[in-house]
Amino acid sequence: FDNGALSGLNIHITAGPTREPLDPVRYISNHSSGKMGYALAEAAIDAGANVKLISGPVNLPAPAHVERVSITTAEDMLEASLEGISNCNIFIACAAVADYRPTSIAEHKIKKGNEEIMELHLVKNPDIVATIAARVDKPFTIGFAAETRDVLSYAQGKLERKNLDMIIANDVSQAGIGFNSDENAVTLVTRDTHIEIPQTSKRQLATLLIEQISQLYKTSK
Ligand code: C5P
Repeated sequence: FDNGALSGLNIHITAGPTREPLDPVRYISNHSSGKMGYALAEAAIDAGANVKLISGPVNLPAPAHVERVSITTAEDMLEASLEGISNCNIFIACAAVADYRPTSIAEHKIKKGNEEIMELHLVKNPDIVATIAARVDKPFTIGFAAETRDVLSYAQGKLERKNLDMIIANDVSQAGIGFNSDENAVTLVTRDTHIEIPQTSKRQLATLLIEQISQLYKTSK
């Protein structure tokens, strides 16, 4: 693999969960560890890219030479993703963005009441990768699809609906891969190819993905 395959290119990578506050002490979030996005950032650095890593709250150190922008909410992630987007060549959306956020954030801690049922009102978050892919100066855009069934057909649908150039699909119903795990097995889906990558470490997978991404990016130019 050519170590300089991405040299001179600007890559933005989103990683980790977002956190959507309810009040000053509570939030809605998910179990994303950020491992896949951080591994991709390292592999992209090794391939010579300039990398901006837009990261939700995770327990991982910033990889060497990566510009990490730490954010909390989906709206912050969108804003950080858009900064410098017109100079971005490749956008990789690896974050597990919360689909919804509370319609309002209580100024003070919400108190426990007498009622047994409490209702939360949620509003849809912006779709970050779809927003990026809808731009006229759209970078080469890659998304992830974690599915528990009909993995390839859902991935294909997402590719088209979000106007992506590639989607990395994984079956999260299989034990030992995907969310929070150190290993993953995926299928790369583009408009005209499917490439299976069998189970391997996220770091090894990241190198293989960056290799495929740089090839497809070049043929798209
Ligand atoms: O639609 P779904 O959430 O399954 O799509 C997953 C892909 O879309 C991932 O690449 C994820 O990072 C991205 N996404 C996003 N903004 C959202 C929701 C998902 O960028 N609000």
